[in-house]
Amino acid sequence: MARPIRPSFLRLAYANSSLILLVITCLTHLVDAAIVEHTFHVGNLTVERLGQRQVITAVNGQFPGPKVEARDGDTIVVHVVNRSPYNITIHWHGVLQRLSAWADGPAMVTQCPIRPAGHGSSSTYTYRFNVTGQEGTLWWHAHVSFLRATVYGALLLHPRPSSRYPFPAPHAEHTLLLGEWWNATSVVDVERQAFLTGGPPGNSAALTINGMPGLDAHQMHQLSVAHGKTYLLRLVNAALNYQLFFKVAGHAFTVVAADACYTDPYDTDVIVIAPGQTVDALMHAGAAPGRYYVAAQVYQSIANATYSATARALLRYEDEEDAAAPAEAMIMPSMPALNDSETAQGFYGGLTGLLWDGKPTVPRRVDTRMLVTYGMGIAPCAPAQTLCNRTRGSLAASMNNVSFVLPEAMSLLEAARSGSPGVYTRDFPVRPPVMFDFTSTATARSLVWTSKGTRVKALRFNETVEVVLQNTAVLGTENHPLHLHGFNFHVIAQGGGNFHRRRATRSYNLVNPQQRNTVAVPAGGWAVIRFTANNPGVWLMHCHLEAHLPFGLAMAFEVDDGPTPDTMLPPPPPDYPPCS
Ligand SMILES: *[C@@H]1O[C@H](CO)[C@@H](O)[C@H](O)[C@H]1NC(C)=O
Ligand SMILES: *[C@@H]1O[C@H](CO)[C@@H](O)[C@H](O)[C@H]1NC(C)=O
Ligand SMILES: *[C@@H]1O[C@H](CO)[C@@H](O)[C@H](O)[C@H]1NC(C)=O
Ligand SMILES: *[C@@H]1O[C@H](CO)[C@@H](O)[C@H](O)[C@H]1NC(C)=O
Ligand SMILES: *[C@@H]1O[C@H](CO)[C@@H](O)[C@H](O)[C@H]1NC(C)=O
Ligand SMILES: *[C@@H]1O[C@H](CO)[C@@H](O)[C@H](O)[C@H]1NC(C)=O
Ligand SMILES: *[C@@H]1O[C@H](CO)[C@@H](O)[C@H](O)[C@H]1NC(C)=O
Ligand SMILES: *[C@@H]1O[C@H](CO)[C@@H](O)[C@H](O)[C@H]1NC(C)=O
Ligand SMILES: *[C@@H]1O[C@H](CO)[C@@H](O)[C@H](O)[C@H]1NC(C)=O
Repeated sequence: MARPIRPSFLRLAYANSSLILLVITCLTHLVDAAIVEHTFHVGNLTVERLGQRQVITAVNGQFPGPKVEARDGDTIVVHVVNRSPYNITIHWHGVLQRLSAWADGPAMVTQCPIRPAGHGSSSTYTYRFNVTGQEGTLWWHAHVSFLRATVYGALLLHPRPSSRYPFPAPHAEHTLLLGEWWNATSVVDVERQAFLTGGPPGNSAALTINGMPGLDAHQMHQLSVAHGKTYLLRLVNAALNYQLFFKVAGHAFTVVAADACYTDPYDTDVIVIAPGQTVDALMHAGAAPGRYYVAAQVYQSIANATYSATARALLRYEDEEDAAAPAEAMIMPSMPALNDSETAQGFYGGLTGLLWDGKPTVPRRVDTRMLVTYGMGIAPCAPAQTLCNRTRGSLAASMNNVSFVLPEAMSLLEAARSGSPGVYTRDFPVRPPVMFDFTSTATARSLVWTSKGTRVKALRFNETVEVVLQNTAVLGTENHPLHLHGFNFHVIAQGGGNFHRRRATRSYNLVNPQQRNTVAVPAGGWAVIRFTANNPGVWLMHCHLEAHLPFGLAMAFEVDDGPTPDTMLPPPPPDYPPCS
């Protein structure tokens, strides 16, 4: 996809006018860049789903929440006002937050939560950040407790007016947020119950597409298309705990981006998407005019799992005559089996990144190498865990045998920047404490006990990092979507079984690997990612299955300031929420 090289006579002609061009470019950027401002009132909303009225936490009385749209280069300003009964933070998932780590959002990592009204401190905080050099589909969600179950929305980054998509412009676009629905009056109680018993939280009651389960016609999202036109589908997996297969009956897709990073065009009739990930895909409305089901179904990588929920939406052709077509006339896509890891891995591993100007951007030299084994394990019950079986212990998750514990007194970022001791330590291990047969249950079971800690990996500004993410079989294997805040990374290789550097190196793609912010690491396998630590701050890396986060499947990178003012994190904004 290299851009054509200009003939040399043109280059000569351009040389003389390069100064003028530069000035024009700067001016255009000034004119282009806008401030996109929103106010998010977070509060109670009563909705009816599955025949039951329920109070949920939502933004501006909308579920899913409001769509935020900006262009590459814009400044986004969101005033969050907490009128809910819970602590709130908002994370701008996939936004690089260059020099604005204070606005990233994970509770106790980059900020203390915005308290509900009536706690003596302010119940507002303004998130302010630039979206520069980013285009595509991202999203925002609560990053405290399980509240992202209902506190989420789309964040769409369009090209600058002077720029274009690297694919034929679609006729129109549809955003589809895939989610999960709980019957429980409070998802916070779902998490609290899991914590108290030391076991996993229960399953949701249903999956949703744009907030609707679609189990009956009254609560089904509809999208209409005109025959012969091509649409850009922007998919977000906002579900808490499930990876999903996505299909539209009678239609196929060309994937053009994942996690707001352009990909080479990838043709498929099934999209696989893990919690935290996004996919942009073109869909041509070339089927016989009629009505077709859009379906999202659980993909289970755990052996013998049975939860198999499916959500539906309805795709209808505008020119379709028979508006009252009976339900039987609608066609359901044939979905992969619940445990079809081959299809899942085929999709996850099949994407490659689009090279804008033909030049690879993968760091070739690696300054820091890490091997991180991770998975579920067991820790002793905490004193507060009243319902926890003291013989069996509490479910825990760990990375290199550290089950991550959030600090309580202040956020990691505040501690790092104020030099406050005792909040965390800089000794996150770069390799597991013992080497073992990671993916064999027989050897792994003896390593079930994990330690707890708030340990981070410190990185110098601009160093290049390679992390091998190795799934373990300690308590069964599962595909975990690992999300890194503050960076896009290159996924240079992935595979099954134990990682062997010599064998794996042969499969490294250092030319056009896909870039992502969330990688679904194969169950019982590994993935290798690389990134450049060019963004000062404290950045969480964690499993985006919400059930695994409170159990400690996380760690953080602390990145130093660079040498110049434009590589240093400015001080926190004046309304940065205090902890006490
Ligand atoms: C919001 O809902 C919760 C849970 O139902 C309830 O306890 C609280 O009083 C409600 N708050 C407001 C302001 O209505
Ligand atoms: C965003 O960009 C503008 C214009 O370049 C700059 O003045 C501002 O400091 C940036 N804001 C942040 C939060 O980086
Ligand atoms: C959720 O509530 C609906 C309506 O009461 C019920 O039909 C369904 O079985 C419930 N699902 C779960 C998982 O509790
Ligand atoms: C799955 O079920 C089969 C048949 O019941 C059993 O042999 C196997 O041990 C189970 N696997 C796991 C990981 O539970
Ligand atoms: C998927 O599940 C089916 C039915 O439970 C089982 O027969 C099959 O072996 C499973 N496949 C894999 C790859 O685990
Ligand atoms: C606690 O766990 C042990 C070991 O798994 C089991 O034998 C015991 O029955 C459990 N106790 C309760 C009250 O569930
Ligand atoms: C992990 O930590 C626990 C608790 O400190 C310890 O008992 C266990 O031996 C450690 N495992 C390894 C493999 O070092
Ligand atoms: C960061 O590293 C890149 C590539 O090695 C280099 O081009 C760039 O100048 C460095 N930036 C700073 C601020 O050191
Ligand atoms: C809310 O956040 C504050 C810190 O700002 C913390 O002290 C408090 O325990 C949190 N409340 C809950 C219910 O987590």
